[in-house]
Amino acid sequence: MSSADEERPRRSASSAADVHPVPGLQIGTYRATQFAQVRDLWNEAFPDDPPRNRAEAAIPQKLAVQPDLLVVATLDGHVAGTVMAGYDGHRGWLYSLAVRREQRSRGIGRSLVREAERRLAALGCTKVNLQVRGSNERLAGFYEALGFAREERISLGKALLECGPDLG
Ligand SMILES: CC(C)(COP(=O)(O)OP(=O)(O)OC[C@H]1O[C@@H](n2cnc3c(N)ncnc32)[C@H](O)[C@@H]1OP(=O)(O)O)[C@@H](O)C(=O)NCCC(=O)NCCS
Repeated sequence: MSSADEERPRRSASSAADVHPVPGLQIGTYRATQFAQVRDLWNEAFPDDPPRNRAEAAIPQKLAVQPDLLVVATLDGHVAGTVMAGYDGHRGWLYSLAVRREQRSRGIGRSLVREAERRLAALGCTKVNLQVRGSNERLAGFYEALGFAREERISLGKALLECGPDLG
């Protein structure tokens, strides 16, 4: 570890991925009592997301399929971040990585990705994918620092079901 790393605990987490860099940080499976705080976090982090991605729609769906892959970081009992993963028997995917604005740049995002990777690997998942919207170079750099590589792909998607009328 370099002296610069020692001065910046957040950086040291990359060489000890399972060590939580923030005192008091807890990472665990989502609990129903956390719904409102997760909803508020996602509204803050993903203001332009479509209704199907909102907590009201996405959390019940996730709780029905691989609920252990909805992971929440808390600080002093308050939700600080989330990540959602899915494993379809072939690939794993990451979604909904978000950290409260005032808690960013402390290594929480990295710790959440590492925990999601650990849980996917425990299911036998051999490769994990994710999508970064547009050309967010800084965000791509965040993932590259965690070992992800850019892959030449055209990303396609198709909505299959409408959300309920209350969700737009
Ligand atoms: C991306 C995000 C989860 C990172 O969380 P974090 O706890 O700040 O991450 P870490 O502390 O582990 O790492 C921080 C580093 O990641 C990179 N980074 C962090 N946020 C970034 C962002 N929004 N865009 C680009 N790069 C980002 C930077 O290199 C940063 O280093 P710096 O603080 O020295 O500038 C957080 O910024 C966030 O919630 N953003 C909004 C939602 C989002 O874009 N999610 C990703 C969807 S693919």
